[in-house]
Amino acid sequence: MEHPTSTLQNDDWERELKAFDDSKAGVKGLVDKGVSKIPQIFNAFNDDIPSKTSPPQEFDLQIPVIDLGFNDAGVQRKDIVDKVREASKNFGFFQVVNHGIPKEILNEMKEGIRRFHEEPYDVKKEYYSRDRSKKVKFSSNFDLYLAKAANWRDTLLCIMAPEPPQPNEFPTACREITICYSGHVRKLGLTLLELLSEALGLKSKHLEEMECMKGQLLFCHYYPACPEPERTIGTKAHTDPTFFTILLQDHIGGLQVLYQNHWIDVKPVEGALVINMGDLIQLISNDKFKSVKHRVLANNVGPRISVACFFTTLRNESDRVYGPIKDLLSKDNPPIYKETTVRDFTIQFDLKLGASSTLEYLRI
Ligand code: OGA
Ligand code: NI
Repeated sequence: MEHPTSTLQNDDWERELKAFDDSKAGVKGLVDKGVSKIPQIFNAFNDDIPSKTSPPQEFDLQIPVIDLGFNDAGVQRKDIVDKVREASKNFGFFQVVNHGIPKEILNEMKEGIRRFHEEPYDVKKEYYSRDRSKKVKFSSNFDLYLAKAANWRDTLLCIMAPEPPQPNEFPTACREITICYSGHVRKLGLTLLELLSEALGLKSKHLEEMECMKGQLLFCHYYPACPEPERTIGTKAHTDPTFFTILLQDHIGGLQVLYQNHWIDVKPVEGALVINMGDLIQLISNDKFKSVKHRVLANNVGPRISVACFFTTLRNESDRVYGPIKDLLSKDNPPIYKETTVRDFTIQFDLKLGASSTLEYLRI
């Protein structure tokens, strides 16, 4: 379906958006009401309609699964670094196993997020907010009023660094585990940043010293089962405006990555975490690492639960200027991008709403 163009339809659309937002109940609220058809604001269109861009059946490529060898002295660091380099360059995505975060913590994090999203309405609505200054908030579709269509997804957002929230700011349903998981994932993030630095031929602490992990955001997603999954999408195609992202997904599936113009499934691997490169690391690595488009299909089974941990500098926290790392440049490898602050970059991202090419405006 096309975006409504007549005034009457626009009024309808706006009314529906506002009613949905005012409900403070999110997509889960619609499902609880028993809707059998999705409201029109969720109708995906054009390139967001999954069936139009699905890969041919025989395209069964897997993104790499890398063993970080935390429990196995036989795994060589150089081999890991080589694999990380290849995967970050070719796919922009990989999964890690043997990463040092216990399975019980991963499971309890997914359970905690499920508990929060399945709390009674009266509990959840207290957290519903679009206030930029709030560190812990629940909402559905952060870009609800700006996007072409809404996505079939609710999210609890926690801004964990540079300044963590007070413990009592978290919902009780997931307070302890969110704080605990956040610490674990930060530790893994530091390890990955060392591997990524080495993969670029830099000293281990180079990227950390560039403050690539200064900010840490947890997006705790809940994708309810959808009565008409072919008409909408869980998360529309986007790249992450981060340095990198660590994603915990459950067993349901639906995450897809664009690879050579085909959408390939990131199949859930028990106990694994998904790592992907963001726009800012593509910028500073001068295209050595790729930030690739990904999306999440809507599904008639669910809920699907995922937790995306974004490492980035928050827009108001730093005036630091980022451009291609000087050590990586040479006469044969000139800078591809202009320098920017994360603030300016984020403003551009918001304007484009994560459309394909936030980086394009910086291209020299
Ligand atoms: C994101 C994202 C994927 C998922 O939050 O940016 O891509 O599986 N999430 O929820
Ligand atoms: Ni993403």
